[in-house]
Amino acid sequence: MSATSPVRPVLPPDIRARKGQAPLVVLTAYTTPVARLVDAHCDMALVGDSVGMVLHGMPSTIGVTMEMMILHGRSVVRGLQKAMAVIDMPFGSYEESPQQAYRNAARLMAETGAPCVKLEGGVHMAETIAFLTKRGISVQAHIGLTPQSVNTLGGYKVVGREGEADGVMEDALAIEAAGAFSVVLEKIPVGLAARITQRLSIPTIGIGAGVACDGQVLVVDDMLGFFTEFRPKFVKRYADLGGLASDAIAEYAAEVRARTFPAEEHSFADVVKGKQP
Ligand code: KIV
Repeated sequence: MSATSPVRPVLPPDIRARKGQAPLVVLTAYTTPVARLVDAHCDMALVGDSVGMVLHGMPSTIGVTMEMMILHGRSVVRGLQKAMAVIDMPFGSYEESPQQAYRNAARLMAETGAPCVKLEGGVHMAETIAFLTKRGISVQAHIGLTPQSVNTLGGYKVVGREGEADGVMEDALAIEAAGAFSVVLEKIPVGLAARITQRLSIPTIGIGAGVACDGQVLVVDDMLGFFTEFRPKFVKRYADLGGLASDAIAEYAAEVRARTFPAEEHSFADVVKGKQP
């Protein structure tokens, strides 16, 4: 490739073709600077509706709007050169009918530049996934714990133990048959995640679903230690940016109060040395 030829972006068929190869690496991103960091190391940047909780202080993802997803989606797409953006369809934007889902998915893609969408649901969303994929919209599905249904699920619980396992497998098979190019498996037992991964021909991306999945995703602010409201068991904290930021802000506050900031090097002299005014 010449120095001037543009980098070919990763697209849904590339992700689908990665089944059974090296694990797919995915993080969420909501802003351009973080998207740039993610782009350097990951295959996908997920503009998750977790943005509502992580950046906007919402109690759940239920209040996230199309406008929020479009704003953050655009910001992320601007920061990506290699990694593929996946944009979440917010609660209430796709469940009513395949037509409603098509309208909103097309708007998310057109207004952000993301090449695909993600939506939550298994068997009951299969008709919608098929409707979208037949009309040129690539869909990543999300099954197991689906946070937009937190109220009906009764909390952020593990899904798929004992009597529930067959239902999660049925969800996985239905979304694959409907044409999803990959699927997020959230908070399901490791054995079930391994069986689903073996059975499906599309990649599984796990979050709290064990190491057998075809890839892994985490919320970037969780793994960087920036979001500390609560910490699910599946989060490994790779850094304590929240702690670092808190120390830095405390130091700044102390220096302002002590009048040691701004120092001379941060200030502008009335006359530049060696120059006539
Ligand atoms: O919104 C989000 O961040 C997600 C991940 C948890 C997969 O859907």
